Amino acid sequence: MAEKIRFENGKLLVPDQPVIPYIEGDGVGKDIWSAAQSAIDAAVEKAYNGQRQIVWKEVLAGEKAYETTGTSLPDETLATIKDHLLAIKGPLGTPVGKGHRSLNVALRQELDLFACVRPVRYFKGVPSPLKEPEKTNITIFRENTEDIYAGIEWDAGTAEVAQVLAFLKDQMGVSKIRFPETSSIGIKPISEEGSKRLVRSAIDYALENGLKNVTLVHKGNIQKFTEGGFRKWGYELAQEEYAEQLVSGDLVVNDIIADNFLQQILLAPEKFDVVALTNLNGDYASDALAAQVGGIGISPGANINYQTGHAIFEATHGTAPDIAGQNKANPSSVLLSACMMLDYMNWKEAAEIIVSGLEKAFENKQVTVDFAKDLGVEPLSTSQFVTALIQYF
Ligand code: NAI
Repeated sequence: MAEKIRFENGKLLVPDQPVIPYIEGDGVGKDIWSAAQSAIDAAVEKAYNGQRQIVWKEVLAGEKAYETTGTSLPDETLATIKDHLLAIKGPLGTPVGKGHRSLNVALRQELDLFACVRPVRYFKGVPSPLKEPEKTNITIFRENTEDIYAGIEWDAGTAEVAQVLAFLKDQMGVSKIRFPETSSIGIKPISEEGSKRLVRSAIDYALENGLKNVTLVHKGNIQKFTEGGFRKWGYELAQEEYAEQLVSGDLVVNDIIADNFLQQILLAPEKFDVVALTNLNGDYASDALAAQVGGIGISPGANINYQTGHAIFEATHGTAPDIAGQNKANPSSVLLSACMMLDYMNWKEAAEIIVSGLEKAFENKQVTVDFAKDLGVEPLSTSQFVTALIQYF
């Protein structure tokens, strides 16, 4: 019987036939979603011999929602995801300058999905700019709700910015703004609660997955109270809640300055298992790390609130307008996001079937257009790739 996933006493309760909402997405979303869905269903069938099955429920967002309902993010979509706890989505376009806010950001804010989780690993056979890409195996926990991303800023030359500047000068004694007449001003909130809940999630993930090193990445040398606060509260949290694991050596918490981190991921990526970062640093580091192991076509992601159970798993690339509707796109990003979802649901066997199928496909140079040129092989279409993949299940 189809049932909803529930969250009780900090635990996800997953029935054998969970209803999971999905957003197909714009652009290549259509190409990758239908292909991916058939692979996910095949893996679940294989893992559990028909005992378990996902009951997919389409919810609308983006262009498809706009065409049918006149709005890009209908209330019903949010309500359904809220109610079913999990969802998976393809990419959604954000029209530049048309004034409607990013749908991805809206979904994250509405559900307070504070952890952006990105596992970055190398698949043998995938083209990479590194000599030893297999040394990169890092899970990123990026804070998703604070920082300069909170969107609190005022444009240069407006009455509002003049008011903020006057307050800073007259009441706070600030004299360090180099060109006050022509400055825009932004605010960077970083809180103890926000930092601690993110670092807690990163540590829990490390311990659950038998990983030892959790590294706090920050710019606390320059931004002492915001980035420095993130570092301080991260260490405090580790001492308060994980003293036993720190003493036993099952857990090591350390920190690194963000610019050095960007060097070290190229020079010695094996030093890192799980990293926790503030929002903006996390944004840069996610794309840099994804590029090291083969780029956005295969990097998965999830936005999770570990306190309420809510989670949205997503392809991390955009709508790829240049190849949309051509059955060319690589479905691996959304497929690996589905693997993260299956892991989160504790359906690990099904996730492993997909991951091991992808390993075999890449190793045998069965790849889509994004990898084919570098490997000197003929590309498979999206649907051919998925057919090849399922044969390895
Ligand atoms: P993009 O990721 O759509 O495309 C960048 C390049 O990567 C293109 O050459 C594209 O063909 C290629 N590419 C992307 N996904 C691929 C795949 N699965 N297989 C093979 N090649 C792939 O980034 P762009 O062009 O900056 O953004 C296009 C639209 O997507 C914008 O409206 C943007 O706002 C939106 N976007 C949405 C995201 C999301 O929903 N999570 C994330 C990033 C962008």
